[in-house]
Amino acid sequence: NKQLSNEKLAEYWLLNNEKSYWFSRSAWSLYVIVKFRILISSDNQVKVWVPSYFCNESLVAIRSLPIKLHFYPVLPSGKPDPIECNKMLDNCNPDIILFVHYFGEEVFSEELYDLALKNDAWLVEDAVHCLKPSQGIGNQGDFVLYSPHKLLAIPDGGLLVIREEGPSKITSNLLEKFNFNEVYDSVINMRQFSNLFTYKWLVKRLIQKLGLHFSHKKIIFNSENKMQDIKQLPHPKMSKLSKKLLSNMTDLDKESENRKNNQKEWNSSLAKNNILGDDINIISCHEKYVPYLAIFVASDTAMAEFFFDLLQKSKIPVSTWPDLPPEVIKDSKMQRVAIEMRATRFFLPIHCSINSANIKSSLTNILN
Ligand SMILES: Cc1ncc(COP(=O)(O)O)c(C=O)c1O
Repeated sequence: NKQLSNEKLAEYWLLNNEKSYWFSRSAWSLYVIVKFRILISSDNQVKVWVPSYFCNESLVAIRSLPIKLHFYPVLPSGKPDPIECNKMLDNCNPDIILFVHYFGEEVFSEELYDLALKNDAWLVEDAVHCLKPSQGIGNQGDFVLYSPHKLLAIPDGGLLVIREEGPSKITSNLLEKFNFNEVYDSVINMRQFSNLFTYKWLVKRLIQKLGLHFSHKKIIFNSENKMQDIKQLPHPKMSKLSKKLLSNMTDLDKESENRKNNQKEWNSSLAKNNILGDDINIISCHEKYVPYLAIFVASDTAMAEFFFDLLQKSKIPVSTWPDLPPEVIKDSKMQRVAIEMRATRFFLPIHCSINSANIKSSLTNILN
């Protein structure tokens, strides 16, 4: 039974009897949530609140719908700024509020939860950076988003979880009454399916496995990724290859250990060789969570850029996050914290294709 196997595939991410739906990407999960709210809502424009520390590419699908996006300011902890959120209520009542568990760690805001409750807004818990549910992750929102493709070696895969216990109590009755399954089907069948994306991923993996290295495209520290067209997103349906690969992945605990060890290795190797000096703060994920990336925070932008370029020159796959939405960049006063976080942080990978030995040897390029 096809449906049963999809549920079985989702079992790592389910806590109770939640409903689950597979997509290629969480950007499509978000799209379906918004589409469903539009269907139910009597308003002609659905208002969606998103944290200002968020990537624009993830919004490309929902921007094609008749919505108004509002970016709420965050505090350096990633939590919403409660004072600014309350001020925003003066001219906009949200229909949907999204918050993010950044880089795998729980971010809970009682104020935001209450705000969703009081305004009948659906609360979307973005756990895209999290390997699986854990303390405080996966048990807060009406909807939870996971992106296994970001943490596991699969070409695509985003899971939407719908919870009855969230602030809006999204019941099976409501889903049935407004035919959620039909909305889901219409989205995953909305374009002609193409395997091109999967093939590209396979070729890339093969090159990696063979240990071949081509010269990497140089990334400029301050550049933004310019994906603005919904057509550039992979097809909404999850590929058969991903489902097959995922069904063979039985040990998420091993992945979790690997990530924790790799994070420790970057931190200790960089510290031991005194590569980053005193101007870079290494942020370690709390032991009880699984880190998404190793995080480094510089004292200022120039310092972040200097080390970003140094690591890149040494062929170390350093990255920045996120490509901020243009509305956030324009509003530099209100969105100061998110802009500063983007400009002072850089990240190193800790996924299962690397290990301690790779990390140590990659640093020899800098030391020589
Ligand atoms: C916080 C966050 N939410 C959502 C997304 C979208 O995830 P996906 O790539 O599965 O569409 C991303 C992607 O980078 C993200 O970082």
